[in-house]
Amino acid sequence: MTEPLRIVAWGTGTVGSEMLTTIIDHRPDLEIVGARVYSGEKDGVDVGTLVGRDPIGVAATTDVDAIMGLDADCVLYTPRNTNLDEVCALLAGGKNVATTAFLFHPRRITPADRHRVLEACRAGDTTVHGSGLNPGNLSGALPLTLSGMCRTIDKITLQERADWSVYESTSITFDNMRFGQPVEEISPQASEFLAFNSGIFTEQVWFLADALNADIDEVTATVEAVPAREDHQIFDHVLRAGTTAGQRWKWSGRRHGEVLVEIETLWTVGGEYPEHWPKPQDGWTLTIEGDPSMRTHFFCLASFTRAASMEEHVRSASVATGMQVLNAVPAICAAPAGFATAATLPLIRSHVGFGNTAKA
Ligand SMILES: NC(=O)c1ccc[n+]([C@@H]2O[C@H](COP(=O)([O-])OP(=O)(O)OC[C@H]3O[C@@H](n4cnc5c(N)ncnc54)[C@H](OP(=O)(O)O)[C@@H]3O)[C@@H](O)[C@H]2O)c1
Repeated sequence: MTEPLRIVAWGTGTVGSEMLTTIIDHRPDLEIVGARVYSGEKDGVDVGTLVGRDPIGVAATTDVDAIMGLDADCVLYTPRNTNLDEVCALLAGGKNVATTAFLFHPRRITPADRHRVLEACRAGDTTVHGSGLNPGNLSGALPLTLSGMCRTIDKITLQERADWSVYESTSITFDNMRFGQPVEEISPQASEFLAFNSGIFTEQVWFLADALNADIDEVTATVEAVPAREDHQIFDHVLRAGTTAGQRWKWSGRRHGEVLVEIETLWTVGGEYPEHWPKPQDGWTLTIEGDPSMRTHFFCLASFTRAASMEEHVRSASVATGMQVLNAVPAICAAPAGFATAATLPLIRSHVGFGNTAKA
């Protein structure tokens, strides 16, 4: 057997933990050599213990220099807030980066940032890949795969309808996404995070347009924020009546004014669904208008057959997000230096699959 790839987890939150338990339980081809944590209480704790497994003999650390100094093949980068400087340092230091957080289509980030990332990849002979559920598979690999059945394409639309009330990462919901804030404080530029978040979906629209010859000339971002009619208790937070409980974002890629590629999110917290919004099913609805036209609806659960708790069902989206990136790790490590996307990597499939590996 070849040597396992040495893996560092940068972030051990909801998504990072799913990746770590998968490596411990199922992936002898991957070896955890470090974990970067943010919370003081996680500092020094064994990574196995952190994710509810037996100790693995690797202590998590808040010490960034210690992580930078590790000899590792790939960093699973899943922090709540991204930092391009640290990603560039990882890449320049010879560590590939696989992330759920950003860099989904680095060709379309600002030229200065793109240049920095590419230089870091060149310096370290490394590759960076950003993916997940959305942005990720559903706005990348899936539409590209379906497009293989199209003669021509006129328009691609992805709608994501989700109620965030059940999403455990409340700091993302309330601090980053600003649910619970005044509606007039929600806009593509209202905060650093909203601008960042809008940027990653903008990138995703460019990604599909670039991969499918749409030759668009702009991607615009708009948002409509809708206030709650009543108070809602969301885990440890109260979302007050009158504050933001709905965000309808649209990222529209246009050519000569005509929308060719669009991602629309219909996000609520507290379960009040605005009457005037479109009503696709919960989950993701992908529509390709073309020859032929096709529509598919994606929904992710813990199981369709066994009884599962709401918590498990919700977690399944984090599992999907983590697995899309974890399953790509060997391909990322083998890819040429630079950016890797769904358009350049081979088809990413479940590494373990059914797990019935034939015995030699
Ligand atoms: N592409 C997709 O489809 C998709 C889907 C879901 C999530 N995501 C992204 O994936 C990432 C992880 O999501 P998650 O649900 O795992 O989030 P999470 O549970 O909130 O965990 C995020 C991590 O952020 C760390 N953190 C704490 N303070 C931080 C700070 N000041 N700066 C940066 N990081 C900090 C936490 O470290 P400690 O635990 O040590 O405090 C934790 O490991 C996020 O960037 C999220 O937006 C992408």
